[in-house]
Amino acid sequence: MRVSVAGTGYVGLVTAVTLAEKGHFVTCVDIDEEKIELMRRGICPIYEPGLEELMIRNKEKISYTTDYMAAYKRAEVIIVGVGTPEKKDGSANLKYIYEVARQIAHTVERDCLVVIKSTVPVGTNDKIAQMIKENIKNHVVVDVVSNPEFLSQGTAVKDTLYAKRIVIGVETERAGNVMREMYDRFDIPYVMTDRKSAEMIKYASNDFLALKISYINEIANLCEIVGADIEDVAKGMGMDPRIGDRFLNAGIGYGGSCFPKDTKALHWLASFNDYELKTIKAAIEVNENQKIKLVKKARKYFDHFNGLNVAVLGLTFKPETDDLRDAPSIENIPLLLDDGANVRVWDPAGMENFKKRLPSDIIYCESIEEAITNADVCFIFTEWSEIKKFDIHKYSELMKYPLVIDGRNCYELSSAKEAGIVYDSIGRKR
Ligand code: UGA
Repeated sequence: MRVSVAGTGYVGLVTAVTLAEKGHFVTCVDIDEEKIELMRRGICPIYEPGLEELMIRNKEKISYTTDYMAAYKRAEVIIVGVGTPEKKDGSANLKYIYEVARQIAHTVERDCLVVIKSTVPVGTNDKIAQMIKENIKNHVVVDVVSNPEFLSQGTAVKDTLYAKRIVIGVETERAGNVMREMYDRFDIPYVMTDRKSAEMIKYASNDFLALKISYINEIANLCEIVGADIEDVAKGMGMDPRIGDRFLNAGIGYGGSCFPKDTKALHWLASFNDYELKTIKAAIEVNENQKIKLVKKARKYFDHFNGLNVAVLGLTFKPETDDLRDAPSIENIPLLLDDGANVRVWDPAGMENFKKRLPSDIIYCESIEEAITNADVCFIFTEWSEIKKFDIHKYSELMKYPLVIDGRNCYELSSAKEAGIVYDSIGRKR
């Protein structure tokens, strides 16, 4: 099939590349010329394991352009994966998606499907359909389909090629048939429903996962108070298949481009309709407090950070990404700097982005050893495998005072004890 994809962020680019891998001919459209030029040269503009290899392998089947007219004109399917960033009031900003819808209406010259992959509030697909109908230039049939995306950063290619489900929200039989044809080669179960329910499945899924994380974080906080161990508690809970063992890792809260935005957006949508989503409100509040938990914990050891050498390991919101959106580091490092700390950081992928986000007197280190040498305290914000595999004895060898405050429970308590470090983690005994 001839497919065009609008937007080459995580969702758009991964969708495009995996569709090409399954034999479709794909044109990627973006307004960013520099990005398009990079991709034409076979360079992947985002950090995502496996994506560049797949781009190169399928280069005959993918083209990149800023010329949306040429891309949309004759496409059988136009997939929209442009951003829906959060507005100040927590609602989703839909201006990019509406702009693409208008461009499509002005351009298409054949019957086609417009497939919305971006996360959009319930009812948006209907508005897009209406907008296209009002602005359409040629006598063609355009069906709008909601097809939310469930990939996670860091495992996006695998998540798409071997997804657990494909959710398709359609209002016509024709649209359902074309979608089936496009996804036929993926061999993944479908949920075929109406557009509004498909939109809701996306938010309800993300918000449920966010809720699960905030729940386990609250239980972890209580474990610390009463002297229980969250790792054992989560293990014991997770063995019940009705609960499931995933997304029960206690830590310093969820970040990234999805959970913080989607919890606020659903809460906003409910409030807008005079309904309060109490569970989601609580999940958001718990997460906000959890994010600054490590700095609060450190107050038990120091009154202030003035003049202290503080090592920070991990800047990104999770491992295997260079993404800093809503990462705990973005909130905590300014607190440390304002308090007069000398901050030395290490992260295998996020340091370049961090320099752009937070230009200041931070020292960026080449290795974990370099970051922790002579430190009074070390904070762990992201569970990179390099940190988990790091020889724990080196903390006591290299630090001025071996206090490790770990927001991601990277080490066994017994190893920390044996290595002679003062180890404070989440929801566990010390
Ligand atoms: C999330 C969802 O997992 C995807 O299914 C969804 O498609 C995506 O949002 C989206 O809407 O685009 P992502 O934000 O990439 O994916 O990352 P996750 O792996 O879900 O992690 C999100 C945050 O939750 C991270 O900060 C992570 O550290 C935190 N987390 C996750 C925990 O604190 N504990 C856990 O047990 C799991």
